[in-house]
Amino acid sequence: MPPSIKTYPNVVEKMEIGRKNILELTFESNQTMKLDWPLNQEQIPVLRDNGSQAHGPEDKRLINCRQVDVNQLMPLKYHWAWEHYVNGCANHWMPTEVSMGKDIATWRGSELTEGERRVILRNLGFFSTAESLVGNNLALAIFKHVTNAECRQYLLRQAFEEAVHTHTFLYIVDSLGLDEREVFNMYREVPAIARKDAFEMELTAVLLDPDFTTETFEGAQQFLENLIGYYLIMEGVFFYTGFVMILSFQRQNRMTGIGEQFQYILRDESIHLNFGIDLINGIKAENPHLWTLAFQQRVVTLVREAVELEVAYASDCLPHGILGLNSGLFRQYVQHIADRRLERVGLACQYGSPNPFAWMSETIDLGKEKNFFETRVTEYQSASSLSWE
Ligand SMILES: [Fe+2]
Ligand SMILES: [Fe+2]
Repeated sequence: MPPSIKTYPNVVEKMEIGRKNILELTFESNQTMKLDWPLNQEQIPVLRDNGSQAHGPEDKRLINCRQVDVNQLMPLKYHWAWEHYVNGCANHWMPTEVSMGKDIATWRGSELTEGERRVILRNLGFFSTAESLVGNNLALAIFKHVTNAECRQYLLRQAFEEAVHTHTFLYIVDSLGLDEREVFNMYREVPAIARKDAFEMELTAVLLDPDFTTETFEGAQQFLENLIGYYLIMEGVFFYTGFVMILSFQRQNRMTGIGEQFQYILRDESIHLNFGIDLINGIKAENPHLWTLAFQQRVVTLVREAVELEVAYASDCLPHGILGLNSGLFRQYVQHIADRRLERVGLACQYGSPNPFAWMSETIDLGKEKNFFETRVTEYQSASSLSWE
């Protein structure tokens, strides 16, 4: 026998139709609705008093949403997600638009020291696979568990951008005539890179367990941990010493093709980071019980661990210092960046270190970028609406 449908007091008739497990309900308003039965909590859509199945933004939730399915984009609830999507689309670029002629001549010439070549190669090695790690985590681990259409719309855009970034590193490697096998294997063969990637891949593995669910307290916390590990730490900390190192060449008007590529990636990553922070804070606001003191401590521990991995990476890239950069300055910088990220999710600063690379803020300001670097002019939106580091 079909169960009694107490959830729907305005049902005037219920009947089994077709296959035995389909139930048709007729409401006072004469509207009808077909349901599989037996029903479980996930299958029960919320109905309005008149039996309408229409949903409003108030029914949307970032995770574990049972009311509105992920196919319903409008009406929007999370306007920030849509804005990040529009901003991301306005920044569209392709690596092949950037001329590499000057870089090729510099790379083939004798101008670069061994230390400078090492910095460039190490960063190509790190980023070439880190972009894939981010893209795979996004598509295989994050996407499935975000139960909101506007956030998924952004995630689809971000996934494409990560593919463009991976493409960029292949384009640079090809342009400079580098050994792609060497560069794309560094994440296995260079310990300072492998350790950063292993830190991230562990977080992905948890979510790829077929039994993983965000429906439990532990699962929802693990999901938040993954978001923090990728958005706050990978894209918000692990990428930033590389940005400083490569953009330092550009400030000296050297390797400007790679520099321009990195500026575009940095701009994209800034939106990824801001979306991630909005998502994390949104999930916190909707599920305050997840943000326990123990969990906050866990986040701080993860960030502190990441800072040490990043400082070790900087030391490995710059064993003797170049371009006025050395690992001592990078320790300060990474700590400074980590504090900014912690603040954005409402956690206390850990280091209080000053920013030794104040010029990075100018670099990120795209209004100044075109004049300062005299790169080609391309139509891009103003960065004024973005919150940069
Ligand atoms: Fe990326
Ligand atoms: Fe990214």
